[in-house]
Amino acid sequence: GVKAFETMPPVLLMANLALGLAGYEATSRMTLAMSPAFIKSRLFGIDLNKPSTKRDADGTLVRPYEGTLVPEAMGVIAGTVYLVCMFVFMPLPFVHDYHSWGSSEGGSWGSAAQSIVSSRASGTAYHFPHAHLSKFLCAFLSICCMCFLGFADNVLDLRWRDKLWLPLSASLPLMIVYAVDGGGTLIVLPKLLTPWLGQTLTLGPLYYIFMTSLAIFCTNSINILAGVNGLEVGQSVVIAATVILNNAIQLYRWPEGPLHDNNLFSFYLMVPFFFTSLALLRHNWYPSKIFVGDTYCYFAGMTFAVAAILGHNTKTVLLFFVPQILNFIYSVPQLFKFIPCPRHRMPGYLAESDQLCVSWTEFKRGDLSRAGLLTVKLCETFKLARFEYGAHGLVRMSNMTIICYVLHLFGPMHESRLTTVLLLFQVLCNTAALLVRYQLAGLLYDV
Ligand code: UD1
Ligand code: MG
Repeated sequence: GVKAFETMPPVLLMANLALGLAGYEATSRMTLAMSPAFIKSRLFGIDLNKPSTKRDADGTLVRPYEGTLVPEAMGVIAGTVYLVCMFVFMPLPFVHDYHSWGSSEGGSWGSAAQSIVSSRASGTAYHFPHAHLSKFLCAFLSICCMCFLGFADNVLDLRWRDKLWLPLSASLPLMIVYAVDGGGTLIVLPKLLTPWLGQTLTLGPLYYIFMTSLAIFCTNSINILAGVNGLEVGQSVVIAATVILNNAIQLYRWPEGPLHDNNLFSFYLMVPFFFTSLALLRHNWYPSKIFVGDTYCYFAGMTFAVAAILGHNTKTVLLFFVPQILNFIYSVPQLFKFIPCPRHRMPGYLAESDQLCVSWTEFKRGDLSRAGLLTVKLCETFKLARFEYGAHGLVRMSNMTIICYVLHLFGPMHESRLTTVLLLFQVLCNTAALLVRYQLAGLLYDV
């Protein structure tokens, strides 16, 4: 039988799932109902790649154009609904502990009832697991803080170099609870390194820097893999599904393992996230009725970071971010301004065929720094981007995102098709990641 799910309290699982489904319904309805209010508060964007978007003869946009206003920052609704769902869920794993209010010390997640039985049997008093409750509280404090800062970014349109630090502030509560909750900074090293460094390594403060970087990476990497209808939420939905699958696999294979509680925690966090995001995806899919905004990208990234850190699964969760990592590495020359980076790097639009094509950044070879020249040389040699050469050393280079790279490889395609291709790539990468995690990890680690 399914042993893991016997030890996982079925009632809690059902409650978690039910809240997720309620979250789906609430997000879906409220998103539609609130759309006019967002537009009224001037929270809207223009869907740049639609036939109704008015353009000049040379392709530049004439704005604002009434017909194409799309409410922006709607991720704040998904975030709010998610938090409410989790606030309702939070007390449930502790229901069995209520009789022992006032005492301290830990018990076990979701299996509190069993702990009571075993502690009664052994004659010791059972104590309320405050440590576990604080883990929940700080997780939602971080996520809530990130939603707030993301919404501020949407309203105020912060500069790129400023908003990079928002996730740092929001992840501080996470660091605290991690430190209080045992705060292991020990990592298991790959077998390859054990002759030199031993089997494990205590990273100490470095590990805290790693966790903060993870929060900054998760949030921003989702935000810069964007610009096509449905892509921001779509990738988050796929990643969430993979994290859930991974947690389920771990719970199933090692029902009594030391990571049982952590996986269960991550699982409880991810299921309602998956459903609220799915509701958002429904309205954000081509043709978008709403935009999710940076609010959603930050909310999603932070939820993944929290699940990874407090679920003690950072390495595995990073494996599910391969497309984001590739996009980030490919984007580095533009992010660090070796190559000029326009405000929007989303694909261009071909009105005649209603398809998307690569978008360009323009520069003169002579204006580039050494790093810029090296980048251009590499991209030309390995055909990593598309080039067009004009008079006076003018160069047009396709923007360095994997979205444009896909269009460079396969040629122009319809917007919904482009999203589908990119999401399929995410599914492919995540499936490979799971295989690596469970088939190949044995080569590197003693699992
Ligand atoms: C990031 C990207 C930028 C990309 C933008 C698209 C980097 C460094 N930044 O910027 O290149 O163009 O996301 O979201 O890589 N929009 C659409 N269709 C969509 C989604 C968005 O037209 O499917 C437009 C709308 O006008 C919307 C705007 O993009 O208002 C939102 O952009 P925003 O999220 O503010 O851009 P950034 O996150 O700063
Ligand atoms: Mg954005």
